[in-house]
Amino acid sequence: MTKYLIKGGNRLHGTIEISGAKNAAVAILPAALLVDGICRIENIPQISDVTLILQILQELGAEVRTISRTTVEVDCTRVRNRQVPYELARKIRASYYLVGALLGRFGWAEVPLPGGCDLGGRPIDQHIKGFVAMGAEVDVRNGLICAKVPGGRLQGGQVYLDMVSVGATMNIMLAAVLAEGLTVIENAAKEPHIVDLANFLNSMGADIMGAGTDVIKVRGVERLRGGSYSIIPDQIEAGTYMAAVAAAGGEVLIQNVIPKHLDCITAKLLEMGVDVEERDDAVMVRRNGPISRTNIKTMPYPGFPTDMQPQIAAVLCLAQGTSVVTEGVWDNRYRYVDEFRRMGASIQVDGKVAVIEGVETMTGAPVHACDLRAGAAMVIAGLAAKGVTEIDSVHHIERGYECLVEKLAAVGADIKVIEVPDEEAAKPQVG
Ligand code: EPU
Repeated sequence: MTKYLIKGGNRLHGTIEISGAKNAAVAILPAALLVDGICRIENIPQISDVTLILQILQELGAEVRTISRTTVEVDCTRVRNRQVPYELARKIRASYYLVGALLGRFGWAEVPLPGGCDLGGRPIDQHIKGFVAMGAEVDVRNGLICAKVPGGRLQGGQVYLDMVSVGATMNIMLAAVLAEGLTVIENAAKEPHIVDLANFLNSMGADIMGAGTDVIKVRGVERLRGGSYSIIPDQIEAGTYMAAVAAAGGEVLIQNVIPKHLDCITAKLLEMGVDVEERDDAVMVRRNGPISRTNIKTMPYPGFPTDMQPQIAAVLCLAQGTSVVTEGVWDNRYRYVDEFRRMGASIQVDGKVAVIEGVETMTGAPVHACDLRAGAAMVIAGLAAKGVTEIDSVHHIERGYECLVEKLAAVGADIKVIEVPDEEAAKPQVG
């Protein structure tokens, strides 16, 4: 088993370069299925979720060429197989984008129900509602989402989402680009990766208007052609390192970001007494004094992102005073709280609300990365804690953070990867 070992207490100094956005990449790569020709996609993050999507595309018959560490060329012209391999698809959430993309291209798709982080119920009824509004018949059976269009080609439709859903918005967009006529998505999500997917598709010849607002209109076109596209920087990766500096203290320039995408995170850090200075494509984050308490409520963009909730909670554990965190998106995003308690944090959870009483110091402990962002939060807590923190199940972290250990070590963190024999890892932990 791979673990991260962190000796806390080092302040962070230097520069961190942000990679391409995970949640944009995992939608843009399946979108290549809709394109006739070669898609050159740049600023791809090297994370295991991306590796899995590329593997699935290859299994379907796509040609994937690695051009450089961050650039791939994907050619789906010769894809004929529409059955997505079960073992690969169930490992990630984003495999649901294959339904929209395959339905749009072939009028038929069979995709295993997706996996991903356990954040409580993760229904896909709104995705299905969208496909049905465009004339598809959708059935969920034997662990598979089976969708087909009786006439072969989807028809534009009107879809009102019952809740703001990132996945449903993107999936319906994917299905709609090659449909006949106009599709209107109302109450659409507005996250930066929604705009990025629309920009990618438009640059390949799609006709999508309104991405980034709550009404998106997609006028179907006959075909998409190949081209080049560069993925936006990862808002959440940047936010995670901003939170790391806030917790550990120090001064770090976080580069290759779109500062506007970070406004919701920056605003909260400023309230907490952290200094954030915006540059053109970077933010300088400094924390020398004490951390002030604040309240956080997670919401769809431009609200405070749920994917930053555990990381900011790690910082609030060390704030002066009591903070209230309210989770507004997922039913169960506090599974990490027990791990924080092992490190000396004082947190009470009641349903979707966590009350955090700041403590002066946290102490290192063996902890478990229960999901991607919870794992990132363990790293942040470990950087600020006194003593040694050992984090297991770091494969969750590697699903979404490229070279996290290297990036943090380069700014002065004492963090390393250790390999522990499985028998050793299975022993009960003391601490
Ligand atoms: N929802 C439904 N029905 C649906 C779809 C969603 O009830 O058909 C509900 C969900 O249960 C949830 C809310 O709507 O309560 C929002 O879910 P959304 O569809 O927006 O989430 P998602 O598309 O499954 C993506 C990200 C998540 C991120 C959320 C919210 C990907 C692959 N995943 O999930 O990212 O938390 O949007 O921003 O893009 C992460 O990166 O750590 C992560 C979990």
